[in-house]
Amino acid sequence: MQSVIAARRDGLPHTQAELTYLASGAGDGSIPDYQLAAWLMAAYLRPLTDQETAWLTIAMANSGQRLDLTGLPKPWVDKHSTGGVGDKTTIVLLPLLASCGLTVIKMSGRGLGISGGTVDKLASIPGFRLDLSPEELKNQAREIGLALTGQTPELAPADKVLYALRDVTATVGSIPLIVSSILSKKLAGGAETVILDVKSGSGTFMPTFENASELADALGRTAMYCGLNTRIAISDMDQPLGSAVGNALEVKEAIRVLSGEESRFSRHCIQFAGLTLEASGLWASRADGEAAALQAISNGNALAKARQWFKAQEATVDIISHPELLPQASIVDEICSEAQSGWISRIDARAVGQAVVELGGGRQKKEDEIDYSVGVEFHVEVGSPVSTGQPLVTVHAATEKAAQAAVDALRNAIEFSQTDIPRREAILKMPQL
Ligand code: URA
Repeated sequence: MQSVIAARRDGLPHTQAELTYLASGAGDGSIPDYQLAAWLMAAYLRPLTDQETAWLTIAMANSGQRLDLTGLPKPWVDKHSTGGVGDKTTIVLLPLLASCGLTVIKMSGRGLGISGGTVDKLASIPGFRLDLSPEELKNQAREIGLALTGQTPELAPADKVLYALRDVTATVGSIPLIVSSILSKKLAGGAETVILDVKSGSGTFMPTFENASELADALGRTAMYCGLNTRIAISDMDQPLGSAVGNALEVKEAIRVLSGEESRFSRHCIQFAGLTLEASGLWASRADGEAAALQAISNGNALAKARQWFKAQEATVDIISHPELLPQASIVDEICSEAQSGWISRIDARAVGQAVVELGGGRQKKEDEIDYSVGVEFHVEVGSPVSTGQPLVTVHAATEKAAQAAVDALRNAIEFSQTDIPRREAILKMPQL
């Protein structure tokens, strides 16, 4: 390992054997954290080339079990978002795609800091299991077309170790390391088609469109090398995605979208569904895919699939018919506009995410407990016209004190303009077809 670290430090190219040794040693615990941490910093300062990134990705995928989906109905798809504030797209997209005939198996993460995690959102559903074994994932996907689990030790264990070390060594932001982390998990998950949603804006770790484009391009190059059929879009994370931020509130919003609610967030989901259905080869174009997704929502198939999914993962209550059985906060406060009439010009996603963490809806440290019931619901988005006294946000909190702190923080997160501000769709860039 010393010579691998020295090679990176001195800017010498890595061989495939070196990166394979590193990933397997990270995965099985035979390389100590201090050596991995030293290599990570060297790799941060001297970024891996595309060839090295691809070798590392494959080696990380091979550090554990790779799901073999043979026997499951094709096409096999997976999705990944680089995360952010209010992003509950997976909860809509999985049943929607499965109801259109795709097989979707997904491993999702927990939230940390302002970035929410799908695992925490689904954990707000009483009884919902998020620890499916590889066999259980496959069996469930065979039966109902979809399955989701939290990070399992079996798949890409090297990523678990390296990501935890990156988190505490200021090396998260390296694009080749992000690419290998994301794509190693996708490779290990066994899908052939992968849809990637790269977020850009204050609520994510790629604050500008240029940063996000650089990551998207690097993901595309490595995915192609690894033989994944991939589509990559860039979407806006300067304002929260959708109206709800907070675990149970986001599940409710996802169910409303599956039930036919139309919004900026529902259009985001439909566009992603169209992209995925086209990429899977079952539909000729994105537009045909979008039409199929809209139909699955309007004829009730997508919602029925969600009901089947929650039941298969052992939800103990039917939250689709009874959303009131999700955790509910005891304090509900409204923030109304004090401004003169005007338009909303900014809702700072980072500040909103931070406010929800402080309400108890997210973690500051890995071991923190989450309050699934708390969060915020926006009644406006960037570009909404507002008049004095109009409700802007509903705050769901555990105590009056926490509610008041959130109200103060959210008032600072929202900016107004006296001139017309155009509304902005969530997707900033999609592949040209
Ligand atoms: N998401 C991941 O899975 N890995 C990263 O490194 C960053 C975002």
